[in-house]
Amino acid sequence: MAISVFDRAQASARYIREQIATDVDVAVVLGSGLGTFAETLENKVIIPYEEIPDFARSTVEGHSGRLVLGKLPLEPINIAVMQGRFHYYEGYSLEEVTLPIRAFCVMGVKKLVLTNAAGSINQNFNTGDFMLISDHINLMLASPLRGRHDQRMGERFPDMTMVYSREYRQIAQEVASELGMQLHAGVYMALQGPNYETPAEIRMMRMLGADAVGMSTVPEAIVARQMGMNVLGISLITNAAAGIEDGPINHDEVMEMGQRVSGEFCQLLTRIIARL
Ligand code: HPA
Repeated sequence: MAISVFDRAQASARYIREQIATDVDVAVVLGSGLGTFAETLENKVIIPYEEIPDFARSTVEGHSGRLVLGKLPLEPINIAVMQGRFHYYEGYSLEEVTLPIRAFCVMGVKKLVLTNAAGSINQNFNTGDFMLISDHINLMLASPLRGRHDQRMGERFPDMTMVYSREYRQIAQEVASELGMQLHAGVYMALQGPNYETPAEIRMMRMLGADAVGMSTVPEAIVARQMGMNVLGISLITNAAAGIEDGPINHDEVMEMGQRVSGEFCQLLTRIIARL
């Protein structure tokens, strides 16, 4: 019989845990262009994804494809940072996309921070702004929980009324106001990609209640909730979604924006994680 998803997550978790001396308190997934946060950690242990049993490989430009384990500066908090994630559009199954989340959970990690680059649908947002994800709409139209159910992963029909922890959002808002930073809140809509949307699709998404659009995060958040983790989601608005401003959208501009705000982003994230 094929090896179950949970058994594979256990193999990944065992390997990762063997490379480090302590438990991990918080796991972080870094979105496009946001990879520099991983460099700020102390006592780093870096594991390329290809070394981790059952992990897929990152194929997207701008996603490093390595797990960085280390300590948050000035705090006794150990974190695991995915510098680059797996996407459905790369051809991976949603089981593969979310295996790292299951591995973190097997390692005993209860706190998860998901970040991404997103296009703004809400016209009050500007590029370079951050948006706290208050909820999501899964327009990928596929669930990472599809398939044989394994009791060890959590419920067959997990509740999704509060995917993004209210307590964590409150903490994030407090930190942002202490830093004098604006932090929007809104609904993130995920599509499969990899093509960007048409203006007509963006108009539809606005009518459906979306504030920002992207191609990730939702499968990871669903799996994390099934396994009982607390989730914080932050989007960096890298561009106005299709048709909102003149001109095409390209991956380079998405990546550039991450670099431009990386100082602010690192500060925000470090302070938030210290309080989770
Ligand atoms: N659409 C989808 N995904 C994205 C976008 C966008 O405009 N920007 C960054 N990721």
